[in-house]
Amino acid sequence: MRKCVIFDLDGTLTRSEEGIWNCVKYAAEKLGFEEPDAATLRKFIGPPLGYSFREYMGMDDAMADKAVETYRERYNVLGLFENRVFPGIRRLLRTLKNDGWYIGVATGKPQRASERIIAYFGLDKYITKVCGPVGDHRPDKIDLIRNALPAQWDEAWMVGDRKFDVEGAIGAGVRSIGVGYGYGSEEELRQSGCDEYCETVQDLIDFLCPDSQVPAGAFLSIEGLDGSGKSTQIRLLTDAIDRFGYEIVHSREPGGCAISEKIRDLVLDKENVGMCDITEAMLYAASRAQHVRQVIRPAVAAGKVLLCDRFVDSSVAYQGGGRQLGVQTVLDINARAVDGTMPLATVYLDIDHETSLKRRAAATELDRMEMEADSFHARTEAAYRELIKRDPERFIVVDATQSPEVMGKQIAEKVMGRLMEAE
Ligand code: TYD
Repeated sequence: MRKCVIFDLDGTLTRSEEGIWNCVKYAAEKLGFEEPDAATLRKFIGPPLGYSFREYMGMDDAMADKAVETYRERYNVLGLFENRVFPGIRRLLRTLKNDGWYIGVATGKPQRASERIIAYFGLDKYITKVCGPVGDHRPDKIDLIRNALPAQWDEAWMVGDRKFDVEGAIGAGVRSIGVGYGYGSEEELRQSGCDEYCETVQDLIDFLCPDSQVPAGAFLSIEGLDGSGKSTQIRLLTDAIDRFGYEIVHSREPGGCAISEKIRDLVLDKENVGMCDITEAMLYAASRAQHVRQVIRPAVAAGKVLLCDRFVDSSVAYQGGGRQLGVQTVLDINARAVDGTMPLATVYLDIDHETSLKRRAAATELDRMEMEADSFHARTEAAYRELIKRDPERFIVVDATQSPEVMGKQIAEKVMGRLMEAE
């Protein structure tokens, strides 16, 4: 039984308005037109470009042709990738593929550009065939859908966000699913006669793969000395992960769930000056034991990407190095807590303890760990280095004295590589 599903690209698998709008603005500026406002920009999604430049920006034919050319100049290099995969789409495609579905794409976007976008996001391993216009030939949606299908099939669905997708499906003789998270409305899709309507990507998964096993997600952690800029990088990395269509969940250690947050308060409380080093190490491990079981494992099992602000490496560095309990002792204390659950990749924001000290000095409120002497942080740094040496495959080490944007790009590229490799 050959089950097939053909997807529309724009508004169904990906959303491309950011790239389109940036390129329209670029063309307007280059040709001396005023920057179009948000309402005008929105109208550019859907119709042919030349039409939009003429209708919405008052250009004559020659100028509109020039605008299209200028738009493409930027689009082919940058705009194409200023795109986002809808959250959950990766999980949908992985599940379909695991279940043996044939997956194709039928799109009004030029075929070459569509293939480049699909490859950039690493979705090409799920999609067997991409059909879009080639050169000046503009086939209608019916032909595109027919071409995207394999020679033989028993069950076939077209999934799209606009009436053109539904009408194309009817013409091509396949059933259709309208999706509500794209550019069309439920009313438009139902009126055009879709067989099914799915409001969200999750509805689509529930409809097409009701009894399927959810493919596992991934566990990532981020580490560094205090003041290494973790919060900014977590924000930038979150955007990158989300852009690729993964469903991201955040957590932190110590903490991440109610019981572990209580342990966090205890362990970071400035009043607790009498806490023994071994008590401290065990409290961090206890917080982790709960967090691993209650948050990390369930999130990964549900197909999410869990990004954790610090994990066991912090214990090894701060308690093993800083407190001088020793790397191996702290690893032993944590063995039962972690119980084999380790990150797929760990981003290490690399600053030395002197830079960390300078950055911490600028902060107003310091917790019990941050108040420690510089020698403590020097030993913490040394223990981190030891860990990286022991496990170079897992760590992604980034020079944290660079600008946040440069670091963000380096981190995103490497993390995305690891995530896609692990899929
Ligand atoms: P937090 O406010 O989360 O600091 P940061 O923003 O730098 O992560 O405080 C966590 C502190 O606890 C930080 O100084 C590192 C320390 N820590 C340990 O000593 N051992 C551990 O196992 C963990 C997770 C954190």
